[in-house]
Amino acid sequence: MNGNAAQVRIFPNIESLSRAAADLFVTRARASVADVGRFVVALSGGSSPKPLYTLLGSPAYREVIPWQRTYFFWADERCVPPEHPDSNYRLASDAFLSGVAVPAANIHRIKGEEGPDSAARLYEDDLRNFFRRPGLPVFDLIILGAGEDGHTASLFPGSSSLRETARLALPVHLGRPKLDRVTLSLPVLNHASHVLFLASGQAKAGVVAGIIDDANRQGYPAGFVRPVNGEIAWFVDRDAGNSLRGVFTAQA
Ligand code: 6PG
Repeated sequence: MNGNAAQVRIFPNIESLSRAAADLFVTRARASVADVGRFVVALSGGSSPKPLYTLLGSPAYREVIPWQRTYFFWADERCVPPEHPDSNYRLASDAFLSGVAVPAANIHRIKGEEGPDSAARLYEDDLRNFFRRPGLPVFDLIILGAGEDGHTASLFPGSSSLRETARLALPVHLGRPKLDRVTLSLPVLNHASHVLFLASGQAKAGVVAGIIDDANRQGYPAGFVRPVNGEIAWFVDRDAGNSLRGVFTAQA
């Protein structure tokens, strides 16, 4: 089996889960800046990370994050303009990025408005220019969610994208209502030094248990995220964790 075993933490609610995620963000940011002078993170969309993003913009966290040395990318994006309500960039921008001291040049959004093929190519170029290293980029932290169908980022069950080995960013043609998208490829997710999954709510209980408890991960794309050299954690609330069979540390 590739990759490290996931750390699983179960929280009473989304608030405590989000506080722990914000603390982890700060810890990783400080450690990366101390080690290599910068912190490179990829964000996701969806409802699960929103309270985390709001916390990152709140005074307690805003003051302690090394924004000047933090670089933002996205795990995926919908092919909409950045001001669109479905934009993952907008979600993060409204929740915290627009109110903190991060330089505009540190924000590497996916240009979804260009359409999936162009936007994926532009994003691939941006990633290669930024990381400037042979092989795969190593994100310091990638924040992910999982859909009820087991998708993560915009890697959906049964998709040929799951077999990608070379490209960093992929177009995803879904049309309406799901919308065309761009996603980081699985090899990029699996080369991160830290991956944090967030899952909350009863509707996620099946997929969370399927991934954590089932050795075959039931074919869920989120279950294929197993960082080769990195660490992976699942932060779930009590509802999302209530079908887990294993014994995991419950957090106050
Ligand atoms: C997005 C995503 C997606 C998300 C899951 C879970 O843009 O929607 O990046 O992969 O993480 O769909 O979404 P929820 O957090 O809303 O359950």
